[in-house]
Amino acid sequence: MTDEQIPIIDLDDLASHDPRRRERGCDGLRRGFGELGLVYVKGHGIPGDELDRFYAAFTELTSRPEAEKQRLARPEVWYQRGWTPPNTEKAVVADGQPDFKECYFAAPEPLDPVCRVQYPQIYADNVWPEGGENFRDGLLGLGHELHEVGLRLLRGCAAALGLAPYRFEELVFGAPHVTRALRYLPLGPHQVGTGILWGEEHTDFNLLTLLPGGRFFDPTGAACRKPDDESGLYLRTRGTSENPQGRMVPGRAPDGCVVAQVGQQLEILTGGTFLATPHVIKAPKTPGYSRMAVAHFIHAHSMSVLFPLEPFRSDAVVEAYSPPVLAGTYGTKTLVDLGLAPASALDALGYRHYDRLALQRR
Ligand SMILES: [Fe+2]
Repeated sequence: MTDEQIPIIDLDDLASHDPRRRERGCDGLRRGFGELGLVYVKGHGIPGDELDRFYAAFTELTSRPEAEKQRLARPEVWYQRGWTPPNTEKAVVADGQPDFKECYFAAPEPLDPVCRVQYPQIYADNVWPEGGENFRDGLLGLGHELHEVGLRLLRGCAAALGLAPYRFEELVFGAPHVTRALRYLPLGPHQVGTGILWGEEHTDFNLLTLLPGGRFFDPTGAACRKPDDESGLYLRTRGTSENPQGRMVPGRAPDGCVVAQVGQQLEILTGGTFLATPHVIKAPKTPGYSRMAVAHFIHAHSMSVLFPLEPFRSDAVVEAYSPPVLAGTYGTKTLVDLGLAPASALDALGYRHYDRLALQRR
């Protein structure tokens, strides 16, 4: 599949009463998510000027003094809320190179109160900058709208795979969904061409990721077109027998489309029928250019089990995706691998010995 062949899914097709339109949407999801792990989405109803207003508010926040932004950083909740400083997060499958970006995390949806006790870091309260109402309202508003887009796509995925209509949606209510604003930092003249990447190659560890259009900014801070042909998002295709490593293709969403990407959780649940998208964000070859983006990450509920659903369980699939793991365990382990959570977080996971009687008899 090439860039030009990435399917464009019309959300209205997925919800249509016309079986031909529904099948057209389902066919696009099977091809896009099955071969590349990615589709473009139209009919989502998120206006472009809403994004422009949000990026203006995010620009105001990122241009504040470093010390002020540091007060919004929350290492104690593994940076799952508030500001993430540059050089904090690194991709799991990389040479340990931290990404060249600063980010802001918030949860736009109601969170499961039980999980807030079990996983206080990934279910933490939002934090907001003083005088940042436009930023707060913009991020929460976009997060909520992107979440609704994701739920409609998950319903479409269930139909496309012949599952019960709410099979994926029932896994996500109250889960630790997060919306992230990202600013990829401008490179200095001596950094260009040194192999610095804006975002190292990785696959997302959640269920489904929604990305409305990002924006490039020139050295004066004005919105601009892509500074060169090689910067921006690149995707790795599924490996074939002739080309086991796959190919890198540019991910250029048509204007106004939201990009939807499969994450590891959806790959596991579908036994690899849908594939998590390996992607990399390449920095420009010209100094001084930056980029802003928004991503909404839909997660499986932390108490759901990540294991291929029944229809996908061949011997090979069961072997490939064993053992079953709680999504909360999986998320915590990944945040340790990303360098955000301390290794000691792993000690709180896994098997728990039943000891009430022994304690009572002491
Ligand atoms: Fe990603």
